[in-house]
Amino acid sequence: MKTQKFYVTTPIYYVNDRPHIGHSYTTVLADVLARYHRLLGDPTFFLTGTDEHGQKVQQAAQKAHITPQEQADQTVVRFQELWRKLNITHDDFIRTTEVRHTRVVQAILQDLYDRGEIYSAEYDGWYCLTCERFFTDKDLADGTCPECRRPVDKIREANYFFRMSRHQDWLIQYIQDHPQFIQPDSRRNETLGFLRNKLNDLCISRPKSRMAWGIELPFDSAYVTYVWFDALVNYISAVGYRSNETLFNKWWPASYHLIGKDILTTHTVYWPTMLQAMGLPQPETVFAHGWWLVGDSKMSKSAGNVVNPMDMVDRFGVDAFRYFLMAEMVLGQDASFTEDAFIRRYNADLANDLGNFLSRTLKMISANTGNRIPASGPDGVDEPVLRAAVLSAAQAMPGAISGMRLDLGLANVAQAVREANRYLEKRQPWTLAKNKDLPALSTVLYHAAEALRIISGLLYPVMPEKMASLRRTLGLPEGDPGISDLTVWGKTIAGTEVGPMQILFPRIEKPEASADVPVKVAPTALATPPVAGPEGLALIEYADFQKVQLRSAKVLSAERIEKADKLLRLQIEVGTETRQIVAGIAQSYTPEQVTGKTVILVANLKPAKIRGVDSQGMLLAASSGGQLRLVTVDGDLPSGAVVK
Ligand code: ME8
Ligand code: MG
Repeated sequence: MKTQKFYVTTPIYYVNDRPHIGHSYTTVLADVLARYHRLLGDPTFFLTGTDEHGQKVQQAAQKAHITPQEQADQTVVRFQELWRKLNITHDDFIRTTEVRHTRVVQAILQDLYDRGEIYSAEYDGWYCLTCERFFTDKDLADGTCPECRRPVDKIREANYFFRMSRHQDWLIQYIQDHPQFIQPDSRRNETLGFLRNKLNDLCISRPKSRMAWGIELPFDSAYVTYVWFDALVNYISAVGYRSNETLFNKWWPASYHLIGKDILTTHTVYWPTMLQAMGLPQPETVFAHGWWLVGDSKMSKSAGNVVNPMDMVDRFGVDAFRYFLMAEMVLGQDASFTEDAFIRRYNADLANDLGNFLSRTLKMISANTGNRIPASGPDGVDEPVLRAAVLSAAQAMPGAISGMRLDLGLANVAQAVREANRYLEKRQPWTLAKNKDLPALSTVLYHAAEALRIISGLLYPVMPEKMASLRRTLGLPEGDPGISDLTVWGKTIAGTEVGPMQILFPRIEKPEASADVPVKVAPTALATPPVAGPEGLALIEYADFQKVQLRSAKVLSAERIEKADKLLRLQIEVGTETRQIVAGIAQSYTPEQVTGKTVILVANLKPAKIRGVDSQGMLLAASSGGQLRLVTVDGDLPSGAVVK
């Protein structure tokens, strides 16, 4: 594969809320691609950052009674901390409130204005607050926003418009001539479908009287820039557009803009026409991946099912989380997160297959060849089979990367690991050792160690910490392995000393459908970074547990909540107090079934609004395979009793 520069970007995320599994996914994907390209020897630049202007951020700030800049400053740290925790190796992190960015946006606006690509006009139409987009009468879907189906507001005001419509024919032609430009093909068709309708000009201003949090228009100080016209520019402002020509020419055009399918139109219609108007080349590929669902549902704050990546990392380790994200989503399709699926894949691929292979190999080397990797003797029948499986996984990896089929690349590696276990079962090194057949044993152990060298290199971009540790144990040099070392058999030097065995992926025990499955615990209980326990579960201090105040409570009454088929509204008695709780148990309990039960309440959870209904605490429930059972008290006890 020829060496070429690789410039990859993630969306810049809104700082209206903390990051969740979806943001982690795109960023880990970009990181894994960047790491693979570095391993391939390609000069690589990986950009991520935050989108700090616009209505969403302003509203979040208002709600928190702070300024939008404070909102941005407080939230950006959450992203930066998470990226550190997830071992993200971005080369730059851009914030759209930085001068290096705002200057460039203003320069572009002025230039487009001077050249008549931006003009002023009266706007009359519909505005969706959530999507921050304008729509005409015929755009609306039954009177609501065609994108998110929320109500829209009637708006009439003078604004500035970008002549997007004039680039429509060009854009259609460009997409048709460049099949790689929008990927996967289903998304390319989606954009082409969108372009079958007449493209309007794009409103790129917001009057400060309505929304002041943005970059001021250089030619009219009564307005700020529409957040998307500001945000998309990050991809060029960060790499020196209008500030450092050498840098800009080195990296632009981007190899990949990675995005979720939610922001396809802005990236494949707005952005290309903006670039075209600026006279700049297009990115090579805009890749829109699918959506992470939780079970079958959309993740949302109100449903209370948002997966917190910090918790996942604390409980299962950073590499296990990265591996799951990469192995589980077929690029382009939606994927479903459940803790069961996570644990299943972890145990199967990592704890069992890979974990077994490496522990058997290292144990045999330490017990029989003085902790040194022996030299291989001549091939038997099984050695070529093993070599072929391992090398074919290595040879397929660059293609899987460039074809954006990481899931396949990893499936090939998992296949090679299974083949390696089969190899040990066929060759029975433990029997060879017992029979003192040292030549045959040496051949097997060399092959096993060599397979581990290649496999650990192939998995290194996905699980950098664990694989670095494994490679140290194998006596391999520190640092990124090179791809040329991974596609060639025999690089392991006989006589290399191996380190002591460690368990890289302790099995996570989770008894299926038994009563003592782990119970949801309030996130405060995991606030301090725990160490891994014997079963891979994160350990916490007793003091952490004590932070969670559990009380027995009696359900006085229960009712369904309209349009929320998972939720029940409960009135519960806690000692002398009555509280209202919204519980996500409606698919396992009818209101009649819960009424009268004595349940366990997390009494000191911050109150929350769930679907607009106040909820003062949370009930404990155990769940397994979609089944959910409330945790109750064994025998009679008054409500309000302390649970410890
Ligand atoms: O849209 N599954 O920012 P944002 C998969 N600021 N990916 C998900 C996801 C999910 N459930 N939820 C979020 C914005 N994502 C703009 C972008 S770019 C110039 C400006 C990921 O904070 C996915 O990458 O809403 C999606 O496109 C992005 O987060 C949206 O992040
Ligand atoms: Mg969004």
